[in-house]
Amino acid sequence: MTTSKRVVLSSDHAAIQLRQAIAVHLARHDWEVIDLGPDKPDSIHYPKQGEAAARLVASGDCRFGIILCGTGQGIMMAANKVRGIRCGVCADTFSARMIRQHNDANMLSIGARVVGEGLALDIVDAFLAASFEGGRHATRVEMITALEV
Ligand code: RB5
Repeated sequence: MTTSKRVVLSSDHAAIQLRQAIAVHLARHDWEVIDLGPDKPDSIHYPKQGEAAARLVASGDCRFGIILCGTGQGIMMAANKVRGIRCGVCADTFSARMIRQHNDANMLSIGARVVGEGLALDIVDAFLAASFEGGRHATRVEMITALEV
């Protein structure tokens, strides 16, 4: 399978169940899933989990990354520190679609304590189905990239 259908999943302890549900959902829809865990409920540090997923996306090994923690916020902040990563937290399908269409996001973050499983799966589907529109949005994404030092 090509990297264009490979997605990396990663979470902290607060989002294990939801991450596993997303993994099953994606595999059913022909995505190759690289799941960085964890599977045990012991408390772990979300920055490490966010960074590990972000590195696989930034290197091109995975086309997209989907990361989760309690709010989705902390792990998103960590992922966005990795050069080349554009990750947004989404709790609705409109935003999930727009961060692909306008911001060319390559990672999606979800708060497992914020959204239920049904909505989370819809958010994932909206994100993966949308495409970057380019044009004036490309100029703006280039401006984001130019902020990387
Ligand atoms: C862990 O308790 C929690 O802080 C974490 O999952 C996340 O919400 C941080 O942003």
